[in-house]
Amino acid sequence: MIDLHCHILPGVDDGPATMEDAVALARAHVEAGTSTVVATSHVSWDYQDNGPANLLPAVEALRARLAEEDVPLEVLPGAEIAMTRVDALDNGDLAALKLGGSAWLLIECPFSPSAAAFAPVLDVLQARGHRIVLAHPERCPAFHREPERLSAYVSQGMLTSLTAGAFVGSFGREVEKVAREFLAEGLVHSVASDAHDLRRRPPGIREHLLAAGLDPALTEWLGRDVPAAILGGDRIPMAPVTFPKPSRGGVLGRLRARTGSGR
Ligand SMILES: [Fe+2]
Repeated sequence: MIDLHCHILPGVDDGPATMEDAVALARAHVEAGTSTVVATSHVSWDYQDNGPANLLPAVEALRARLAEEDVPLEVLPGAEIAMTRVDALDNGDLAALKLGGSAWLLIECPFSPSAAAFAPVLDVLQARGHRIVLAHPERCPAFHREPERLSAYVSQGMLTSLTAGAFVGSFGREVEKVAREFLAEGLVHSVASDAHDLRRRPPGIREHLLAAGLDPALTEWLGRDVPAAILGGDRIPMAPVTFPKPSRGGVLGRLRARTGSGR
């Protein structure tokens, strides 16, 4: 597996506190079948000291330590950038924070209730030439209420990265249902661990997706093939299963009926 979203750098956010914790987390990634992770530490107002200046050396330090300890995990630079933080970053910062030096930025979907404020940020980022992977939209109340906005962003060329635990109920039944409905409608392009620690938010992608009953070929597409294409700058491969086109009778209609949204 290639994990596009996890918190593994020590002492920079709500991930591991120490280098020893980070190494233990790296070993758990390997045990879970992950060969490559992108270190997507938070870049947000809560962690406003984070940026290329501290995160890139932290990646180098962790890589050196893992090499010393023979932990076979490739660690690439990146960031999970809060939507509210984007305006404070110039193009140089953004370029340095892309997923593994690719064309793609991982943008955190806020937990705010309305998606209306997302459009100016996302549209401007795209207009500036950045490609966007939306992190955990299944946990974003705004997309529960207005799934048609997520569908529109995907139509605009954005990709999504859902959290593996969401498919097995780690964030509650509603998030699990939404994750499955987004998947059924072709709105899910990749799945990551968003691991923070060994217990509460542990590493692992494949076992969650298989436990959730996903097709093994689809599991590999979500956890390996699409992430590899994102990092490699390749064309996103076709999914091994056919998804229906997003439609009013599908996720949009079902979610709208549940949330009582009249639109
Ligand atoms: Fe995260």
